[in-house]
Amino acid sequence: MSDEISPPADQLASVSLGNDGSSSSTVQKAKFSDRVLIRSILGRPDGGAGLAGQKVRIGGWVKTGREQGKGTFAFLEVNDGSCPANLQVMVESSVSDLSPLVATGTCVIVDGVLKMPPAGKGTKQKIELSVEKVIHLGPVDPAKYPLPKTKLTLEFLRDYLHLRSRTNSISAVARIRNALAFATHCFFQEYGFLYIHTPIITTSDCEGAGEMFQVTTLINEMEKLERELIQNPPPTEADVEAAKLFVKEKGEAVAQLKAAKASKEEITASVAELTKAKETLAMVEERSKLKPGLPKKDGKIDYSKDFFGRQAFLTVSGQLQVETYACALSSVYTFGPTFRAENSHTSRHLAEFWMVEPELAFADLQDDMNCAEAYVRYMCQWLLEKCYDDMELIAKNFDKECIDRLKLVASTPFGRVTYTEAIKLLQEAVAKGKKFENNVEWGIDLASEHERYLTEVIFQKPLIVYNYPKGIKAFYMRLNDDKETVAAMDVLVPKVGELIGGSQREERYDGIKERIEESGLPIEPYEWYIDLRRYGTVKHCGFGLGFERMILFATGIDNIRDVIPFPRYPGRADL
Ligand code: 4AD
Ligand code: MG
Repeated sequence: MSDEISPPADQLASVSLGNDGSSSSTVQKAKFSDRVLIRSILGRPDGGAGLAGQKVRIGGWVKTGREQGKGTFAFLEVNDGSCPANLQVMVESSVSDLSPLVATGTCVIVDGVLKMPPAGKGTKQKIELSVEKVIHLGPVDPAKYPLPKTKLTLEFLRDYLHLRSRTNSISAVARIRNALAFATHCFFQEYGFLYIHTPIITTSDCEGAGEMFQVTTLINEMEKLERELIQNPPPTEADVEAAKLFVKEKGEAVAQLKAAKASKEEITASVAELTKAKETLAMVEERSKLKPGLPKKDGKIDYSKDFFGRQAFLTVSGQLQVETYACALSSVYTFGPTFRAENSHTSRHLAEFWMVEPELAFADLQDDMNCAEAYVRYMCQWLLEKCYDDMELIAKNFDKECIDRLKLVASTPFGRVTYTEAIKLLQEAVAKGKKFENNVEWGIDLASEHERYLTEVIFQKPLIVYNYPKGIKAFYMRLNDDKETVAAMDVLVPKVGELIGGSQREERYDGIKERIEESGLPIEPYEWYIDLRRYGTVKHCGFGLGFERMILFATGIDNIRDVIPFPRYPGRADL
C-alpha cells in the first residue's frame, strides 16, 4: 500500500447516502479497502474540483477507453459502482502499455493525482485523474467480451445475468433497489415496527390460490433408490425362501447340538451362526419390499415419508405467520422472498419476488390504508433525496417522467374509492366508448387493464380501492356489515397497476371459521390461526407490497425481470 495515499477518513458518513458529499479538501478513503470511492470524488457539491492536487488510488471497470495523441496517452471512463458517474482517468504511454487498458470491461486499480481538466475543452468533468502507476489490470479480450460498448437492450442483458450488473442501467437499478430496502427498514423502524423473520418453508397456504412450489426430498430419494435397485437388484421371492431355509437349517443345527449335549463352545458358535442367518433374512425381506417410484399409501403419495413428515411448500406470503407476532407485539413487519408458481408470462409477475408485509394490531382498514400511503410516499421522497443521480440516469435512459412522478406521489394524497364506486367509474367510461377486453360488472376481479385505467386515466395518481366483494378475496379478510364485501384494499399505481394488496383481518372466532369453510379450505391445518381468535383476539390489519413492483413504479422500467438481480419466471432460473 502506498504511503502517498491519503489516510482513511470517515468517508461513509459523508457520502453514503446521496449527493450531500463533503466539501472538505481532503479525499476520503473507502472502508475496508485501500482505494477511494469514485462517489466520494464526483459526488461532492463541487464535482470534485476542490480535491485537485490530491493523490488517490481508485479501482473500477473501464466503461470506455480511447487512445489519443497518436498513442501517447489514453482517456478511460472508469466506474466502480459507487455512483452512476464515471471518473475520467488519463494515462500516458510512459506509465503503461495503453492498448490493454482501453477495452470496455477491463478492471483497473490506479494511483494518480486529481487534476482540473484543461480549461476550454468544454467537458462536463470538474476533475480527472492523471495516472502515476497502474497497480492492477484485469484485462478483457474485446473480441470475446459479451457486453461491448454499444447500447444493449435490457432483454439482451437477461441472457448475461452474471455480467449485466456492470451496465449503467442495471447498476443504477441495484442502487435504487438497495435504497428502497433501506428506506423500508427506516420507515418501519421509525414508526416502532419490529422486523420479524417469517419462514420460507411453510405448511400453510396463505392465499389459498394453489400457486405454491412444493418442497420435497421424495423425488431425490426415489431417483437414488431407482439407481440403486438397477445396480443391486432387490432379492426375489426365491432369494427370500432360500434365506428362510437357511435360518431353518441353522435352527435345527443348534437343536441337534443341544440334544447331543455338545460342548458350550460348540453350541455358542452354532447360535451365533443362527443369529447371523436371521439377520440376513430380515435384511433380504426388507430389501425385497423395495419398489421403484414414490412411496404410496392408500393409492396416494405417502408424505409421512417426506423430509418434514408432511407436505411442505415455499411461502407465497409471510402474513399468516407474522400475524402471530402482531397479536403479541402489536406492530411488526416481514420483508423477504416469496414464491408463486403461477404460469404468468407478464411483465409484472415473477415466480420469486420480495414482499414487504407490515401487520398492525389495534388498527383497522383506515389505519392500514394510511400506513400503506405513508410508506409509499416515504419511499418516493427517499429516492428524491438519496438517489437523485441514479433517477436522472433512469429518466434519461427509460422514462423521462419518473422524477416528476416521484415528486407528485411524495406530495399528493392518494385517491380512495370503494370497489363499488370503482366499478361505476369504469362502467361510465365504457358508456362513453372506452373498450376493455374484460367485461365490467360488480363482482369481477379487476383486471390489470381496469386497474391501470382507474389510476392512469381517471385519477392520474395512486389510488386505493377498498371494500371488495368477498367472493374474489382471501379467507382471512374481515367481512363487512353488508355481508357482501370484505375490508380489503389494493393500492393501484400508474405504470404498474396493483402495487399493494392488504386488508383488515377477520378477528372474530365464528367469522374466521365460517370464512375458511366457505372458501372450501380444511379447518384442521388452520387451527393455529384460529387460536389467535380463540385466545385474546384483537382487531388487526396489514398489507403486502410487491418490492419489484415498487421499483417498476419508481423507475418506469417496463419489465419486472430487469429490477431483480436474478429473475425467476416460467422456463428461466439462471445461475
Ligand atoms: O395481493 P397479494 O397476493 O397479497 C398477499 O399476499 C397478502 N398476504 C399480503 C398481506 O396482506 N400481508 O400480494 C401482495 C403484492 C401484490 O400487490 C403485488 O404487488 C405483489 O405482491 N405480487 C407480485 N409481484 C411480483 N410477482 C408476482 N407473481 C406477484 N404476486 C403478487
Ligand atoms: Mg392482490
